[in-house]
Amino acid sequence: MTNKKRIVSGMRPTGPLHLGNYHGALNNWISMQDTHDCFFFIADWHALTSNYEDPGDISDFNRQMIIDWLSAGLSPEKSTLFVQSHIKEHAELFLILSMITPTPWLERNPTYKDQIAQLNNKDLSTFGFLGYPVLQAADIIIYKAQGVPVGIDQAAHIEITREIARRFNYLYGNVFPEPETILTEMAKILGTDRRKMSKSYHNAIYLSDPPDAIMATALKMVTDPQRARKSDPGNPDVCNVFEFHKLYSPETMVSAVNADCRSAQIGCVDCKKMMAKNLIDALAPIREKNQYFIDHPKIIDEILASGDKMAATVAQETMREVRAALKL
Ligand code: TRP
Ligand code: SF4
Repeated sequence: MTNKKRIVSGMRPTGPLHLGNYHGALNNWISMQDTHDCFFFIADWHALTSNYEDPGDISDFNRQMIIDWLSAGLSPEKSTLFVQSHIKEHAELFLILSMITPTPWLERNPTYKDQIAQLNNKDLSTFGFLGYPVLQAADIIIYKAQGVPVGIDQAAHIEITREIARRFNYLYGNVFPEPETILTEMAKILGTDRRKMSKSYHNAIYLSDPPDAIMATALKMVTDPQRARKSDPGNPDVCNVFEFHKLYSPETMVSAVNADCRSAQIGCVDCKKMMAKNLIDALAPIREKNQYFIDHPKIIDEILASGDKMAATVAQETMREVRAALKL
């Protein structure tokens, strides 16, 4: 047994991972692998809550996602990596938790209200969408997690998780710890258009992008909006390209760009090209591993099978306690 803190987190499989996902979550997960007992899963049921009309090939998305995870550095030796829909106990706990969760907790959930307002091309007036945080609570407490690493956008959901765990314990006896939110610092990098990097905005650089795609996307990036021509001095502090330089270029280049931009000695196109070259190099190992796993599908099957098995063992044990607590 380990005395490391157990953490649980999940990601919805909505397509290939981009640098926003990497710097906003995955990178943090990777670094927690040595210090925590980590359970990371693909939240494919959660993807259905908003994509139920056109779910696509979910098992294919799941594979793509695990391949991105492994290529970026999540390790099946260090972490338990699994698929939510393969562990049916999540659904059983979700059902039980739904009995004790007051609907006003869900109706006043800020993400619920936001999403309903934002995704107005979708009909989200479903029971499943309202119950999203209840399923999320089940995902977390079924592993008796002590912490949940997430971005600020998920903080309200973890708060609901804590409330549900507390209510369960109050009604049926102490089964679940109340998990802490472990806030991930959000990436400062933006998409090419300076909005949040997102697949639906078509402004993202993907971990598995080939070099020419990375270069093309980098060249499209909006820079310091005040800088109209090369002879105008620029301000790197407000430039998204400079944020990328800080992450991917050597220190000497970062300070040269910083100075040369302010004194109008470098043009944005050259600056972007320099950054893109470094980014292409930095992503090379991820790209290669991606290809390797695509060429070796059996390895992915094995990793998922053993992760699912580990997760199922823990989830089944918790469900025995839950049924006993409820005298079911
Ligand atoms: N709702 C999370 C998101 O959209 C995904 C998720 C589902 C999750 N279940 C979870 C995250 C449990 C942490 C823990 O990002
Ligand atoms: Fe941004 Fe570089 Fe252009 Fe300066 S020179 S505004 S840092 S892209």
